[in-house]
Amino acid sequence: MQTVMITGGAGFIGANLIRFLLESETEVEIVNLDKLTYSGNLGNLTEVMEHPRHCFVKGDIGDRKLLRELFAKHRIAGILNLAAESHVDRSIDDAAVFVQTNVLGTQALLAEAMAAKVERFLQVSTDEVYGSLGAEGKFSEDTPLSPNSPYSASKAGADLLVQACHHTYGLNTVITRCSNNYGPYQFPEKMIPLMINNARQGLPLPVYGDGMQVRDWIHVLDHCRAIWAAFCRGRSGQVYNIGGDSERTNLEVVRTILRILGQPESLISHVRDRLGHDRRYAIDASKMERELDWRPAVDFETGLAETVNWYREHADWLDQVVSGDYQNYYRRMYEGR
Ligand code: NAD
Ligand code: DAU
Repeated sequence: MQTVMITGGAGFIGANLIRFLLESETEVEIVNLDKLTYSGNLGNLTEVMEHPRHCFVKGDIGDRKLLRELFAKHRIAGILNLAAESHVDRSIDDAAVFVQTNVLGTQALLAEAMAAKVERFLQVSTDEVYGSLGAEGKFSEDTPLSPNSPYSASKAGADLLVQACHHTYGLNTVITRCSNNYGPYQFPEKMIPLMINNARQGLPLPVYGDGMQVRDWIHVLDHCRAIWAAFCRGRSGQVYNIGGDSERTNLEVVRTILRILGQPESLISHVRDRLGHDRRYAIDASKMERELDWRPAVDFETGLAETVNWYREHADWLDQVVSGDYQNYYRRMYEGR
């Protein structure tokens, strides 16, 4: 039996990763450390909360005393760090907590991991650290870091700290940089679940600017498989890009969601653009394929239709997450756009 710590395990990708590992890896025990911020939700883990190989701990990755206690109590072989403030628009509104969690939190986790002699540290990063592309080309692992938003700047800062710990202290590290995820349990501040939630209620769909920005969409389970492959078999000190090979404009995605839900395109409402909006992301994931024999398996249109159906079938989950604070957030972010 091997025990790993997954941070941010009550969030979108973390919860999918925990479900995936409990099902597919019978020899893995998980300590799930999550602060339960607005996007952390134990409702994402309902069926696995009491699983004998899952131990949930409410706490902050920046709390060094707690980390020391956890490393003393559990024999943690490796850490998969997913905990983060993850939404670009919120970082434009107020960057402080992004620096606190994404940079200082990662630093605290690195320091305590080294003190406890943890054997492997995987940092879940993002393609946004590379900045924005023109009409041609893709991000490779050698593309220089050029983050544009406070969110991506904080993630790039974390990546550099991870690399510094590898270089300076010999910590066994891997960094993964993935493109835009979609799938079950995503908080509806992100474009796809936000549009599904609005469309199901016949509300306007707020498309930023001209809607011709391009994202490379990947199903969250393909990302989870890639993270685990990189954790188990990635070379120490290396970066691995992960992408879905599914570039779509935002307008294409929104129109597809409306078509699946049988709603009219007249619901599309062009609103003020995001400040500093990155125009295009595209990932060259050939290193993952070459070295780790990984490639995305879920076709985007099939995955999106399944995802829309998942939110339709889990209306209770969606109703719960958009109640309360979400309404205040939505009014603050979208009013006057
Ligand atoms: P999310 O916002 O859904 O989940 C983040 C989780 O981290 C939440 O459960 C939250 O409670 C927890 N958290 C926040 N601050 C914490 C702290 N200080 N201590 C402990 N827990 C804390 O985000 P997500 O979309 O699941 O993203 C997970 C990771 O993947 C992030 O590191 C993000 O940068 C990265 N990533 C996301 C995408 C994407 O498309 N969503 C793509 C590439 C990389
Ligand atoms: O590329 C990986 C990144 O993808 C992750 O690192 C981030 O954590 C994740 O949030 C995501 O960032 P984006 O900014 O690309 O995702 P978001 O869902 O916020 O937006 C996707 C696109 O849709 C982007 O071009 C902005 C646009 N958009 C978004 C929202 C929320 C709209 O047009 N309207 C909206 O209301």
